[in-house]
Amino acid sequence: MFHVVAGARPNFMKVAPILREMDRRGLECRFVHTGQHYDDAMSDTFLRELGIRAPDVHLGVGSGSHGVQTARVLTAFEAHLLQAPCACVVVVGDVNSTMACTLAASKLGVPVAHVEAGLRSFDRTMPEEINRVVTDAVADLLLVSEPAGLENLAREGVPPERVAYVGNVMIDTLVAELPAARSATILAELELAERSYAYVTLHRPATVDSKDRLEAAVALLECLSLQLPVVFAVHPRTRGRLEAGQLYERLSRNAAIRLLTPQPYRASLRLMASARMVLTDSGGIQEETSYLGVPCVTLRPNTERPVTTTVGTNVVVGEDVANAWGPIGEILAGRQRTGRPIPGWDGCAAGRIVDELVRRFAPGSIRGVPLSVDSSSAALLQALDSPGQARSDAS
Ligand code: UD1
Repeated sequence: MFHVVAGARPNFMKVAPILREMDRRGLECRFVHTGQHYDDAMSDTFLRELGIRAPDVHLGVGSGSHGVQTARVLTAFEAHLLQAPCACVVVVGDVNSTMACTLAASKLGVPVAHVEAGLRSFDRTMPEEINRVVTDAVADLLLVSEPAGLENLAREGVPPERVAYVGNVMIDTLVAELPAARSATILAELELAERSYAYVTLHRPATVDSKDRLEAAVALLECLSLQLPVVFAVHPRTRGRLEAGQLYERLSRNAAIRLLTPQPYRASLRLMASARMVLTDSGGIQEETSYLGVPCVTLRPNTERPVTTTVGTNVVVGEDVANAWGPIGEILAGRQRTGRPIPGWDGCAAGRIVDELVRRFAPGSIRGVPLSVDSSSAALLQALDSPGQARSDAS
């Protein structure tokens, strides 16, 4: 029996292919939703669109300070595990739920597998960085999505037998949903043409909780809107901060800036895939734009996903938001990065993940289903040393 945990919006895209692959192989698994995100727009709409089953267990923890939220997940998940023992807990990403479930399981002696292990921004002011470091220190199996993850874990002294490069499972969801996203009606509703606008998402505390940085980001969007319509999907945290600073009203009066509520997966994917450029502070969107070949400008001092800047289409602007004008100018002049394919970002990561899970934690439950790996971890590692050709068409 596996327990697969998700808690917040970016987790749902990662667990969907894993749950599907486990079901396909007839493996026993329970889907545990911690309830860190609870609004329909931040949670249930993703379960519906991605065809994720209703949670077998819902911990209902809700919002709170980091301490409160983490403690509630830890307490509730420990109580759940005591009732329902399992062979392995699978956690994904770097949200508070990821770390809390890892701690609860490890202390009960239940093995933990971490999907998207090894990412490091080296910035301990990010709550997600603390979650990553703690989760990887304690988890038993570290499933890595990007090449830098292997180097980071090796440098931290993690023995190689605890680590496997499996590629990027969020790209599995993108590949599966792209055809449906292409027929989403959001562009028509907004009366926007392909490649005629900038798509924006901002939500990190470092961007939106500091008044100066938030004002700098708003000024950037206002200037950019003089050249290109701006479509801004506003996260609940960001909306709260914009309203508190009287900036939401100011942005909403600008006819060239469209403020949207948090978008469902397919609408957001369509907006991203058809944008002239994307401005973001999200981790996942840096990866998705790299896969899509869409130029991405990341309004952060650093990234834990450096392959998106070396092989993908991402540029990280650094401390000063105004530095974004360099890459934005290049994109507007048609000189954007086109990027190359990244090994293991191929739509098949869930197969590799479940192969590793079964091999290590449930070897008796393969039930005659062949290991589905179409490219093994070893082959992927070879590919990392010889990246592919540049894309001929950024679209
Ligand atoms: C969390 C994750 C972050 C992830 C992001 C994606 C942590 C530390 N952070 O940040 O890594 O990139 O989710 O969205 O786990 N809220 C709602 N409705 C909801 C959920 C939250 O209104 O469904 C509000 C909360 O009340 C709070 C704010 O949004 O005021 C922030 O929510 P929180 O879960 O604390 O962190 P995020 O900023 O969403």
